[in-house]
Amino acid sequence: MNTRINAAITAVGGYVPDTVLNNAKLEKMVDTSDEWITSRTGIKERRILEAGKATSDMAAMAIKNLLNNTGVNPDEIEVLIIATSTPDHQLAPTAPLAAQKAGLKNAWGFDFNAACSGFLYALSVAASLLESGRHKKVLLVGADKMSAIVNYEDRNTCVLFGDGAGAVLLEPSKDAGAVLDTVYRSDGNGVQFLSIPAGGSAEGTTEQTLLEKRHYVEQDGRTVFKNAINGMTATSMEVLEKCNFTTEDIDWVVPHQANLRIIDVVGEKLGIAKEKIKVNIQRYGNTTAATLPLCLWDFQNDFKPGDKLLLTAFGAGFTWGSTCIIWGGLRNNNKK
Ligand code: UT7
Repeated sequence: MNTRINAAITAVGGYVPDTVLNNAKLEKMVDTSDEWITSRTGIKERRILEAGKATSDMAAMAIKNLLNNTGVNPDEIEVLIIATSTPDHQLAPTAPLAAQKAGLKNAWGFDFNAACSGFLYALSVAASLLESGRHKKVLLVGADKMSAIVNYEDRNTCVLFGDGAGAVLLEPSKDAGAVLDTVYRSDGNGVQFLSIPAGGSAEGTTEQTLLEKRHYVEQDGRTVFKNAINGMTATSMEVLEKCNFTTEDIDWVVPHQANLRIIDVVGEKLGIAKEKIKVNIQRYGNTTAATLPLCLWDFQNDFKPGDKLLLTAFGAGFTWGSTCIIWGGLRNNNKK
């Protein structure tokens, strides 16, 4: 008898701040144009969290949205994983803070940092906690306050990023829903092309690092662009093979939202029709660990039980990979 426990996504939630930073506003801040940003990235606007609020606040809002829509009792949540590159504090993880703000009295939790691949990597970890039989309700949140680490005088980066949070509930599957298989990779050589150079243990904060603005995101966009296309395409093909799927079998692709051109090229290389590829980058920009769950939240009404989804991401590290999941029935019947 097959006693394998599968982990399924049974609810999704999300939160984006009210404040909109559109391309017209950015034109007044740096030497850029709506035309450049739209044609090079696909982004029209992004959300910015208000001063005094942190990543844990957005995570808590996304969790509350999920719980309110499904009626799940917060006391039943056993584990909270927060995928983020923008923790509230260097020391003291964000997960306990977010749990407290969301009223999760019985959850233990931890932060998970794999940059833009954070949610994708952590999905495998969260699924394992259920597949092992050890836990029954695990919340996974991707949340990033990118406005806290972006230099709004640097046009190379400030047009790209935004703030937001998305949450999923994972439970033992009662239907076909499952996190099927994963192909993940990492390469530490990538740090030279995308990182915040100072402020960590490698180079502590000094007057000089602040003057040189080395505590903000720095990126060699072209190198990251090429690696993202190759990495997302290769791992997508590998995971499809592992799952015995062809691209024809895939109902939806949910890709990391860093650049519309990256998404388009990956789709073309995989031979997957544009209509199957979910895109919301025009409204939120790159929200780092939040892009995948925000897409699941935005497009949940399109997914039907039994649909096969391909999730793929690439980010700092470098970190990258792809996962196939089967969509299960949501607790709220896919009603956002
Ligand atoms: O999520 C984590 C992973 N990150 C990514 O996947 C991002 C990957 N990279 C990219 O998305 C793209 O490389 C960017 C959107 C960052 C840049 O696009 P690009 O087509 O690679 O542009 P580029 O960096 O090659 O720059 C082309 C030109 C340059 O001018 P010159 O040297 O040709 O005169 C830049 O100075 O565009 C200029 N430029 C801008 N112009 C107007 C760079 N940023 C801007 C800007 N507005 N905001």
